[in-house]
Amino acid sequence: MGDKNATLSVGGNSYELPVFEGSVGPDVIDIRKLYGQSKMFTYDPGYTSTASCESALTYIDGEEGVLLHRGYPIGQLAESSNFTEVSYLLLNGELPDKETLDKFNWTISRHTMLHEQLIQFYRGFRRDAHPMAIMCGVVGALSAFYHDSTDISDPEHRRISSHRLIAKMPTIAAMAYKYSIGQPFLYPDNSLSYTGNFMRMTFGVPAEPYELHPAVERAMDRIFILHADHEQNASTSTVRLAGSSGANPFACIAAGIACLWGPAHGGANEAALNMLREIGTPDKIPHYIERAKDKNDPFRLMGFGHRVYKNYDPRATVMQKTVREVFDALKVDDPLFETALRLEELALHDDYFVEKKLFPNVDFYSGIILSAIGFPTTMFTALFALARTVGWVAQWNEMISDPGQKIGRPRQLYTGPTQRDYVPVENR
Ligand code: CMC
Repeated sequence: MGDKNATLSVGGNSYELPVFEGSVGPDVIDIRKLYGQSKMFTYDPGYTSTASCESALTYIDGEEGVLLHRGYPIGQLAESSNFTEVSYLLLNGELPDKETLDKFNWTISRHTMLHEQLIQFYRGFRRDAHPMAIMCGVVGALSAFYHDSTDISDPEHRRISSHRLIAKMPTIAAMAYKYSIGQPFLYPDNSLSYTGNFMRMTFGVPAEPYELHPAVERAMDRIFILHADHEQNASTSTVRLAGSSGANPFACIAAGIACLWGPAHGGANEAALNMLREIGTPDKIPHYIERAKDKNDPFRLMGFGHRVYKNYDPRATVMQKTVREVFDALKVDDPLFETALRLEELALHDDYFVEKKLFPNVDFYSGIILSAIGFPTTMFTALFALARTVGWVAQWNEMISDPGQKIGRPRQLYTGPTQRDYVPVENR
């Protein structure tokens, strides 16, 4: 942090505000004492210019299309690492050596099973329940089953609850899927990789051995890496805000899942594939591009645009490459991929999208891959939640470990009625 100051002048008064420098990225103006000094708040709905916390986990340069986890570029991690190693990195700050990574994998594998009584929870849901509805409920309910790791002031409790959440998420998501299609639940198989175990629990059946397709397992693992963390997005900020009151981690992650569900956030991959299906063939694209540009039409190109990226989302680059790998491995072809490529090309050459710097984001291609692997659209956001859980717990841990942490409590610009007297109903 540096020793620069900013001066704010309002109505003849000036206020000196400290300016802090991060290791990279924009400086921030420290306004914590502004209200005390000036009796004014700052106004920033949607937090477009507000740094809500200090963090050393993830860095995004939206103008350049850069995403780093603990300094490592997402492209390198997606190419050369795997999801549990990235999880360790996010949680602990450094890449593990071989022995440490083996121990971490072993630890995670020891927490993959759910308390048997949790299975009753699933039976209470309608068969057509959205997997995200089940995930919100079941993850929140973990608080009732794992009391031995909910003392957030104890670092060991925080470590165990983090490991539990990362380990149990694949089991919870796979069971949500199995329940929706009426197949029996499969218990985890800890001899498989984190992602391989999830694939088996999702697509396997107890009646016969499940054959993992290594290329698909690798693609799925890469998709998990691409979704592992993304700085202070809406769901992560939700987890931090929920956690700031001292709520237990299972409740906080359930809050994050609820926020992720929305179509402007994690639900966009489901919405993007539905949109591509609606568009169908490339000849219909111009009509939908015109709709997306029409201010009187609520239609937006799903999987396009991002609050932070004003350049190509680096995750979308990896995703587009992964589509081809999965198609080759499974020997499938989906004409929607051609539609998506053409839509991207047309939009990137359209003045509206160029001027507003709207590029494909991570969700534009992920639906096509997940669909080719065999997931129904309703599972897409559940997969995002599974992977993002590591980011959520790492961010939550970072916040709770900070001795200066306070409850999150934004203020407002009040525009309602000023004080007035109550009028009895007969006099109104
Ligand atoms: N299609 C058409 N116009 C768009 C789009 C789009 N996908 N995205 C933004 N715009 C326009 C928008 O109408 C606005 O125009 P104007 O300035 O004339 O009013 C301008 O671009 C800025 O949009 P905004 O809504 O103010 O920008 P934002 O930063 O608040 O929203 C966003 C970002 C991601 C919510 C938005 O781009 C969007 O709705 N995209 C589609 C949904 C989507 O793909 N979401 C996934 C995000 S990445 C995964 C994740 O983080 O969960």
